[in-house]
Amino acid sequence: MSTALINDVKKVYIDTFNKEPLLIFSPGRINIIGEHTDYNDGFVFPAAVNKGIAAAIEKSDSNISTAYALDKKSKIEFELDKIKPSTEGHWQNYVLGVVAEIQNRNKTVGNFNIVFKGDIPGGAGMSSSAALENSVVFGLNELFKLGLSKEDMIYISQKAEHNYAGVNCGIMDQYASMFGVKDHALHLDCRSIEAKPYKIDFKDHQLMLINTNVKHSLSDSAYNDRRSVCESISKLLNIKALRDATEQDLETIKDQVTPENYQKALFVIQENERTQKAAEAIKDNDLETLGALIYDSHHGLQHQYKVSCEELDFLVNQAKFNPHVLGARMMGGGFGGCTINLIAKSEAKAFAAHASNAYKKAFNKDCSVYFIELAEGTHLVN
Ligand code: GLA
Repeated sequence: MSTALINDVKKVYIDTFNKEPLLIFSPGRINIIGEHTDYNDGFVFPAAVNKGIAAAIEKSDSNISTAYALDKKSKIEFELDKIKPSTEGHWQNYVLGVVAEIQNRNKTVGNFNIVFKGDIPGGAGMSSSAALENSVVFGLNELFKLGLSKEDMIYISQKAEHNYAGVNCGIMDQYASMFGVKDHALHLDCRSIEAKPYKIDFKDHQLMLINTNVKHSLSDSAYNDRRSVCESISKLLNIKALRDATEQDLETIKDQVTPENYQKALFVIQENERTQKAAEAIKDNDLETLGALIYDSHHGLQHQYKVSCEELDFLVNQAKFNPHVLGARMMGGGFGGCTINLIAKSEAKAFAAHASNAYKKAFNKDCSVYFIELAEGTHLVN
């Protein structure tokens, strides 16, 4: 967690509102493997990281509330009895959506002011939106003694995303951001919402992210489309979610679905199995197997689920040419954002430099490299 971020939001809060605020840090997340499995009731393997959103929040004595996005120098004021989605953009809806979803649960929040700032760029596939939602719900729960459990809070954040941002996301991002454990990744069962933390110490290897710095438009509607395909195939199979299907089950309805949709469902079933195998590989410290599963995951995301893009594929190919990278794949919803790479520590900087040069030559734009630490979930900062 960056103390500079915390100091920035604190200072601006005090200068603007003349009060000592509560300070909250809410992390973004990585995901080792298990992509697009969460809304299929399947398994995922995320971890909270030391990058995210710092928020300063306190009650307001006036009859309006204010949210100030410090990075964007953008502010909204709103009345609590007139909350509705904003047409202005995304970050406003994460804040407003959380307030609305708390109110939908018959809980009363009073007026408040919040100032926030982050160190994960939006569109990186590292869940800056879940980090923001969680910081708002966590702060309001503290301030107004709402009595919400962490589980209640992540569902409120998720509903804000569904109803205010229009993305029918699963629960992985909000869970990882809220429940993160320092130095651990969480093998999460998205049906029972139970997770087993795995200590991540890859000895002479590490995880490294490379951000393509692109986010292709239409990614939200493509995400929602994928989710409905999965749901309609589950219906055909007469099961609750694709988590309950085997490849043999899928075979029985092959002629009732398009070849494209068959491949999408097959991807989900296989990715869910890979995630289980990855947990075993991590337990056995078998990094070769883990790396191969990560490459297979990308192959499926690219060719079967079709949520990758040429910038991501380029970076994964760069990794494949380098014997020191054991595995690489796109991470998160797709259509841009980061690749996650499992790489020998001694070679990480050299690979980062090489891949960055090649990327610049190919696309005439810069990618960004992040070395991350696995960190604790949403918390108060003293
Ligand atoms: C986004 C969503 C998550 C998950 C991933 C893909 O990050 O918010 O719920 O579905 O995409 O794994």
